[in-house]
Amino acid sequence: MTSDAPVRLGVIGLGRAFMLMLDAFRSDPRVRLVAACAPRAQSREAFEKEFGGRTYAEVEALCADGEVEAVYIATPHQMHADHAVAAARSGKHILIDKPLAVSMEDGRRIVEAAEKAGVHLIVGPSHSFDTPVAQARGLIESSELGRVCMIQAFNYTDFLYRPRRPEELKTSEGGGVVFSQGAHQIDIVRLLAGGLGKRIVALTGAWDPERSTEGAYSALMIFEGGCGAVLTYSGYAHFDSDIWMGGIGELGQRKAADAYGMARKALSRISGSQEEAALKTTRTYGSGAGPQTPESYEHFGPVIVQCERGDIRLTPAGIQIYGDFEQEFRFAPALRHARSEVVDALFDAVRFDRPPVQTGRWGLASLEVCHAILRSAETLQPVDLVEQVPTHSNKDRHN
Ligand SMILES: NC(=O)c1ccc[n+]([C@@H]2O[C@H](COP(=O)([O-])OP(=O)(O)OC[C@H]3O[C@@H](n4cnc5c(N)ncnc54)[C@H](O)[C@@H]3O)[C@@H](O)[C@H]2O)c1
Repeated sequence: MTSDAPVRLGVIGLGRAFMLMLDAFRSDPRVRLVAACAPRAQSREAFEKEFGGRTYAEVEALCADGEVEAVYIATPHQMHADHAVAAARSGKHILIDKPLAVSMEDGRRIVEAAEKAGVHLIVGPSHSFDTPVAQARGLIESSELGRVCMIQAFNYTDFLYRPRRPEELKTSEGGGVVFSQGAHQIDIVRLLAGGLGKRIVALTGAWDPERSTEGAYSALMIFEGGCGAVLTYSGYAHFDSDIWMGGIGELGQRKAADAYGMARKALSRISGSQEEAALKTTRTYGSGAGPQTPESYEHFGPVIVQCERGDIRLTPAGIQIYGDFEQEFRFAPALRHARSEVVDALFDAVRFDRPPVQTGRWGLASLEVCHAILRSAETLQPVDLVEQVPTHSNKDRHN
């Protein structure tokens, strides 16, 4: 096996998340899709036609496929634990979409299974993989601007009104914005602040009785060393904070001027949860829909990092740095294709044994923050964090 051979990947779950990785899988020579597992025959057929690999209806069968060396788990959150444990027991490296799991017990089960099997476990994609986040992290690690003092992370979207499976609207099954969207924002903020959260004080909003899960939160996260971060997310928004990201959407696409209110309009035309779930599958693999081509890096809303000697603002094209007397824009390298950073991480882990920051233990720590937000909001009390891990770069680990 040469060290630059493509990673032979099996995909578990050919839904929306897979669609968002499709551009990377189609265009990156460092990964080859050799198998997939999906309950829907239409998705399996589309996969075989496009990638020529083997498909399975059962996860166990995919895990027994000897050609597969790593799996990408893109099934609903509540299935992650069973699928990841099966993959780890079969000796497959794992890329598991965020959040790691719903319960901390399931999260621990996944981490322990991967550690016992000696396989890499990467929790992603999350927007902490986005290149401008890595640029900001690099600048922070260089100490050019001094210590990180305060972070503001803010995102206003229509998330709650996009088509959902019924369980995506039930908090106990991992529904709501804290698990699905908080996972992105928490990962970004932890990465920039050094990873070690100490305490959370939060409130959540569940304001729409028709969709009775949390659609918004605002949390104050205090880190070891004193940095404080405010994380605010609303999936109920009419205001769209992408206006502050140059009109570029989360996936790096330019937003059409007539896109206003589209999610709510589409939802108003259907009735009942079955019709809604069916609407969601029109956005999945094999349905004929395709991902939009991005023009810049993905992002998760405005993020401002205040350091001792300057501030950093993340944009989809790079980072703006505000010093005492001058400001400067540092462009990110040219975009290769969507989510190339996730392939970087998978390839480096599997081929060179260089895991990214976003390991299983990292994902467990971010999941702990999701639970802390929910608990703090429920009890109106601060919640201490006990499962946090620091932001290690590959450099730290291998020097
Ligand atoms: N990183 C991101 O930007 C991003 C975006 C969307 C979703 N996600 C994550 O991806 C995961 C899936 O969410 P989604 O929105 O794609 O849901 P989805 O419903 O669109 O896709 C889930 C897929 O899993 C399949 N599935 C169900 N049971 C299965 C089984 N036993 N074996 C194999 N496949 C099975 C379903 O048929 C479906 O195609 C979630 O954890 C979510 O948080 C991440």
